[in-house]
Order: sequence, then structure tokens, then C-alpha cells
Amino acid sequence: QLADSLFIINNFARDYFVKTMFETEEGQNVGLSYFEERGFSEETVRKFQLGYCLNQRDAFVKAALGKGYNAEYLQKTGLVAMRNEQLADNYRGRVIFPIHNQSGKVLGFGARILVKSDRAPKYINSPENDIYVKSKVLYGTYFARHAIDKLDECFLVEGYTDVVSLHQAGIENVVASSGTSLTTDQLRLIKKYTNNLTILYDGDNAGVKAALRGLDMAIEEGLNVKLALIPDKEDPDSYVRKVGAEGFRQFIAENKQDFILFKLQVSLKEAGNDTTKKSQLVNEIAETIARIDKVEDFTKQQDYIRQCSQLLKIDEEGMVTLVNKYIR
Ligand code: UTP
Ligand code: MN
Ligand code: MN
Ligand code: MN
Ligand code: MN
Repeated sequence: QLADSLFIINNFARDYFVKTMFETEEGQNVGLSYFEERGFSEETVRKFQLGYCLNQRDAFVKAALGKGYNAEYLQKTGLVAMRNEQLADNYRGRVIFPIHNQSGKVLGFGARILVKSDRAPKYINSPENDIYVKSKVLYGTYFARHAIDKLDECFLVEGYTDVVSLHQAGIENVVASSGTSLTTDQLRLIKKYTNNLTILYDGDNAGVKAALRGLDMAIEEGLNVKLALIPDKEDPDSYVRKVGAEGFRQFIAENKQDFILFKLQVSLKEAGNDTTKKSQLVNEIAETIARIDKVEDFTKQQDYIRQCSQLLKIDEEGMVTLVNKYIR
């Protein structure tokens, strides 16, 4: 019941923000212009149902109350909040990215500020409620699922705009973690469509550290995880605009590496000549390899044991013993 009401309100809000952007002067001059300047075509903007929230205290509030929507439910969506004992719009003067579930229903929104500010966050996202549970959602799944299934690979990026930009470039098998670390539920969502996950994060980023933390979880879920680090200071959105769709594909093809081996190389570099650290990392890698399903993916496990012991310059038999110790 509450869930239904929240869906109805979000649906209304999505339509309202789209209409506002295309049919008001402010919407066109500020919202649509912003997207145009970023190189998003009208077709792309329409497809992702991007919108704009007027820079007024309560334009959306009035429209929603006028439709008869309940003030309490409106607040639960995060679209509005009480300010000085009056309902006010939360996304004033921001462009809007609806967040869809797998069947295209609107779970919530990301609202981006137009001009960088020290006083306000770049994005305001919907709060968790009966329909929006962040840990179960990946932005773009609705638009990406057929391409993921067909290509049997899912690209994972950090941001909303990365998904939108790559789509426009014809790279549609892409979803975003929206700046948080991966959860088991999100990995299972990907697994419905493919076993092959390729992470496209920026190299200088804490995002990679977060992804590394999610690695064991991903292995446990039976995913083959690869990684291509986007060059310094770029993200997939800016990079695909810079080098074009073909250049982007080529970069991924040339730089895609196995995530377990990547992790090992990063740790090896960190450990240097420190023998304690090195033995710790040998154990960590063995533990990760042990998570590969021995029955389903026996050869895969064997391959990793061989490659990792070579990189670590340790005896393969010893690695086998160690891995077996960790198999539960
Ligand atoms: P980024 O800072 O990389 O933003 O955060 P972006 O996606 O590249 O956006 P543009 O290109 O500057 O417009 C990556 C993701 O982290 C989340 C958003 O989901 C964003 O897309 N994020 C970031 C927030 O939720 N809040 C923030 O204030 C910043
Ligand atoms: Mn499939
Ligand atoms: Mn970033
Ligand atoms: Mn960006
Ligand atoms: Mn980014």
C-alpha cells in the first residue's frame, strides 16, 4: 500500500520534471541547456527521462498537493521536506536523474546541482524508503539488461552520467554503483544477466579500493571479475567523449585485466621487501582463490593457483595446500 503510493508519486514526479524541463522557459534555458552542454542529445535525455526541478520554493509541492497526494508520503519520497513549517521542494534548481528498477518503475532520484558549490552536495539522492533500498539497486539496469544479456558482460561504472554517456555512444551494457561499494544483492542482480563483470573505475580513486573490498564477495557469487582503470582525471563519461566510442572500446579491450591478478599486483607492490606483509598477502590470495567454486570452476581455480604462485614466486604445490586449507 505504502509502496504503491510511493511508486505513484515518483511516477508523477518523473513526468512533472520532464515536462518542466521541456515546456518551461527556465527548464529549457537552464536544465536542457545543461544537458546539451554536456553533449547529451535530446533522444538520450528523453530515453533516460532526465528532467529539471524549477528553482522555486515549492513549485513541485504545489503540483503534487494539487493532485491530491498525501504530504506524509511526499516526504517519504524525499522529493519534499518541511522547512519553516511548510513543505518545500528538495531538488530546487537541479537536474534530475530518475532511478528505475528492472521493469522501469521509478524507485527514486538523483538530483545534480548545476554549478559546483562548497555549501551544497553535488548530488542529492532519494532517501531509503519502502521502495528504494540502495543496496539492491544499480543505476541503469532497466536500460542495460538486454545488452548485458546479449553481450554476456556487464560494465560497472561509478556515476549516473557515465551510464548515460556510454549509452549514447552505443555502449549499453553498463550500470552504475552510484558511488557506493558493491553489495551481495547488487552482484546477484548482475548475475541474473551475466557472469562476467568488468569494473570501469577511475584509477586514482578510492572507488578501486572499495571495489577491491567487494572482490571476495563477487568471487563467492561466481562472477568473473575484470577491471579496466580509466586514465587519470577522467571518468567513463569524459573519456568516451574525448576518444569516441571506438577509442573507448579499444581502450577497454587493451587494458582489461583480471581482477584477482590485479589485486595481487597491487598488494605485491605495497608489500615490497616486507616478508611479513608478503606472507600475509599469500594467505589473502589463497583465501580469495579458495572462494572459487571448486566443483563448477575447477580449471579456473587451477589457473589462478598457477598464475598467482608464479607472480608470488612461490611453490605451486604449497599454494594448492594453502588454498585447500581455506576451502570451506
Ligand atoms: P562523481 O563525483 O564521479 O560524479 O560521483 P559523476 O557521476 O562523474 O557526475 P558529474 O559528471 O560530475 O556530473 C560518482 C557518483 O557518486 C554519487 C553519484 O551517484 C555519482 O554519479 N555521488 C557523488 C553522490 O551520490 N553524491 C555526491 O555528492 C557525489
Ligand atoms: Mn546471459
Ligand atoms: Mn570519481
Ligand atoms: Mn563525471
Ligand atoms: Mn565521475
